[in-house]
Amino acid sequence: MLRVHQQKDYKGMSCKVARLIAAQITMKPDCVLGLATGSTPIGAYEELVTKYNEEKLSFAAVTTVNLDEYRTLPPTHEQSYRYFMNDNLFRHVDVREAYTNVPNGLAEDTAAECARYDALIRGLGGIDLQLLGLGNNGHIGFNEPCDHFVLETNVVDLTESTIDANTRFFATKGDVPRQAITMGLGCIMEAKMVLVAVSGAGKADIVCRAFSGPVTPEVPASILQLHPNVVLVGDEAALAALTKTGITICR
Ligand code: GLP
Repeated sequence: MLRVHQQKDYKGMSCKVARLIAAQITMKPDCVLGLATGSTPIGAYEELVTKYNEEKLSFAAVTTVNLDEYRTLPPTHEQSYRYFMNDNLFRHVDVREAYTNVPNGLAEDTAAECARYDALIRGLGGIDLQLLGLGNNGHIGFNEPCDHFVLETNVVDLTESTIDANTRFFATKGDVPRQAITMGLGCIMEAKMVLVAVSGAGKADIVCRAFSGPVTPEVPASILQLHPNVVLVGDEAALAALTKTGITICR
């Protein structure tokens, strides 16, 4: 089941996403949060830091599992997703470092690393709330368009469009890693709740295709139409095309 929440702008979207994550932590302080990177969730992480500082929201019992990591980037690299999470959230709150998990992009035995990550998540009892952004081509995590849905944590070859989209974070396109390790769609679909955050006119078309188009591995996010508990939070610009389909929107 999908519930769509529309907010006016990026700030409103970020506040709503942070409120839902904070509610999850309040309801279950030792919850497992699946976390995402990209530019979309940065505002929500800022709001969570504010809630930690001003509202005593504690992450002390929380475990986190991140969706993905670039292959070949060390955690000290500013564009690694481990660095991103430390920089945008972890070092500002009381989460215990040992309880934060990001795939190891430096693993030499990638098959073993993928299996370890799936076993880790299932050993935690699965994910209570999985936060997702949405790639321009419909990817979630780094699960790229493909001819089948990949369920396990896997090594992906990034598509040219994703490399182009992420070039903005690197000095040159040649610096963008060509591969990543990503949580598969299985653990995402097994999460008790999936929270998708979208912002900006550039996402309007893919949001519409993902949530009102056919369920197809060519748009990996479309698999979320089969999930029993998805909350999509977007600003007006990102939801513009979806709104026109007549879908029920909570404002
Ligand atoms: C990256 C990440 C995704 C993210 C997506 C969208 O490729 N692997 O997890 O959702 O890009 O990013 P943005 O939020 O910057 O549009």
